[in-house]
Amino acid sequence: MTAALDLRGVVKRFGATDVLRGVDLHMAQGERHAIIGPNGAGKSTLFDVISGRTRPDEGRIVARGVDITGRPPQRVSRMLARSFQTTSVFGGLSVLDNLRCAALGAGSARVVDRWLHSRAIDDRARAMLDAIGLSSRADDAAARLAYAEQRALDLGIALATDAPLILLDEPTAGMNRAEAARALSLIRATTEGRTLLVVEHDMDAVFALADRISVLVRGRVIASDTPAAIRLNADVQEAYLGAAP
Ligand SMILES: Nc1ncnc2c1ncn2[C@@H]1O[C@H](COP(=O)(O)OP(=O)(O)OP(=O)(O)O)[C@@H](O)[C@H]1O
Ligand SMILES: [Mg+2]
Repeated sequence: MTAALDLRGVVKRFGATDVLRGVDLHMAQGERHAIIGPNGAGKSTLFDVISGRTRPDEGRIVARGVDITGRPPQRVSRMLARSFQTTSVFGGLSVLDNLRCAALGAGSARVVDRWLHSRAIDDRARAMLDAIGLSSRADDAAARLAYAEQRALDLGIALATDAPLILLDEPTAGMNRAEAARALSLIRATTEGRTLLVVEHDMDAVFALADRISVLVRGRVIASDTPAAIRLNADVQEAYLGAAP
């Protein structure tokens, strides 16, 4: 089967600093793949180059057989949806309208089709609203939500599209245990049959969610394997798991 995502030798430099130093990453379709690694390892930068926010200086990024290297975000948005490490909701729009915008991007690209399917878009947005536990806040401006609620909305926005590949950058950051557990079960349920790439520092969450884990250290993937194998990997233990995240 064609890989969901295949990165070969991806390099990203900022000035004289090599932040990504030849990243190879392979993800099968339907896989839930976690990226772990110390602060500053290049995890968010990796998401930026995959989602087209920044161009890699070297290397190739292929999604489902299509070379998307250097394609801007609007040209990969049908293939992949991403959430950011920091909240990025439309603060002035209502919670429901944030989800409507995301759902609008799903399905057919033709405006007339979107119009004809506006009921379906509404249903999709409301179902996600319910799933993220924000039904009672539907009409409130997103800016008025508490931090954890904004993070939940962020997640809903990424998941309300029907992009086959979902990238989530630290989706549970800033949440308490109960909120994080809820977010994780939502992620698990809504990524069924899709491919997920998630950056996460909470090791319990990573080991519970991921089919495979890649460990990024100083801009290089030092191991990519099943959770059980990663747990036993001596290099990983030394580089990351042994140290406080
Ligand atoms: N636009 C930029 N210009 C210059 N340096 C940058 C830029 N973006 C990131 N960096 C640097 O690249 C390195 C990797 O940053 P990145 O945010 O990708 O790390 P990370 O693994 O996501 O870290 P964290 O776990 O803290 O989120 C850091 O040293 C950072 O300072
Ligand atoms: Mg980051």
